[in-house]
Amino acid sequence: MTNIVRAQKKQKTKAVSLITLADKSSPISEQYRTIRTNIQYAMVDRDLKTLVITSSGPSEGKSTTSANLAIVFANSGKRVLLVDADMRKPTVAKTFALDNTRGLSTLLGSRETMLHQVVQNSGVDNLFLMTSGPKPPNPSELLDSRRMQELIHELKHQYDLVIFDMPPVVAVTDAQIVASKSDGTILVVRENVSKRDSLLKAKSLLEMVDANILGVVYNGSKNIEDQGYYYGS
Ligand SMILES: Nc1ncnc2c1ncn2[C@@H]1O[C@H](COP(=O)(O)OP(=O)(O)O)[C@@H](O)[C@H]1O
Ligand SMILES: [Mg+2]
Repeated sequence: MTNIVRAQKKQKTKAVSLITLADKSSPISEQYRTIRTNIQYAMVDRDLKTLVITSSGPSEGKSTTSANLAIVFANSGKRVLLVDADMRKPTVAKTFALDNTRGLSTLLGSRETMLHQVVQNSGVDNLFLMTSGPKPPNPSELLDSRRMQELIHELKHQYDLVIFDMPPVVAVTDAQIVASKSDGTILVVRENVSKRDSLLKAKSLLEMVDANILGVVYNGSKNIEDQGYYYGS
């Protein structure tokens, strides 16, 4: 068992399950690799480097999908940065047992903070992490700032793939903002949780900002530790 998985098990908070680290040969891990392949196909034509993961509502598996996709892409040799851009309900620090005193909010909020000061090692080869940082009063404004635009530009130079773990698209505008500045967007749908109306609303909100929706990740309802399954779109 890796240190990350061990640290996760001690926590009662909302760390998500890193099945792709805990059990690389499980069917769920295989499904994440299938999703990776599908995304890679979409990446061939275009220079796709920044990816937004969102869903219509809460608890549909955005953070689970972001973290596990980041791991399987890193395993394929790409230099990957997972950014916790859900500054409202952050999970990356908990999931990877990291300090969150500095992160995206710090970087966007102060000109003095440098990128290298907020990127942390994950313990997984090729995978780097940016936690959310302390909860700011104005997440949407920070994400819509010029500094965010510059940051995305800089990250594209430094990494092969940047994955943004976002809040739900229907409740707040954060995911719309980042999707409009990113190369691709993936919508997570969770069995028995996602509502049809909300899904349609999510799609139209993303289309409104010309997000490049690459597809849907269907997150099965079964327990993730217990032969749960994922389908790529
Ligand atoms: N397929 C699944 N089966 C069981 N539990 C899941 C599944 N997908 C996600 N979860 C759990 O549901 C909760 C919410 O998932 P999370 O990825 O944090 O969602 P979001 O980021 O969309 O709010 C977490 O505790 C996570 O471990
Ligand atoms: Mg989340």
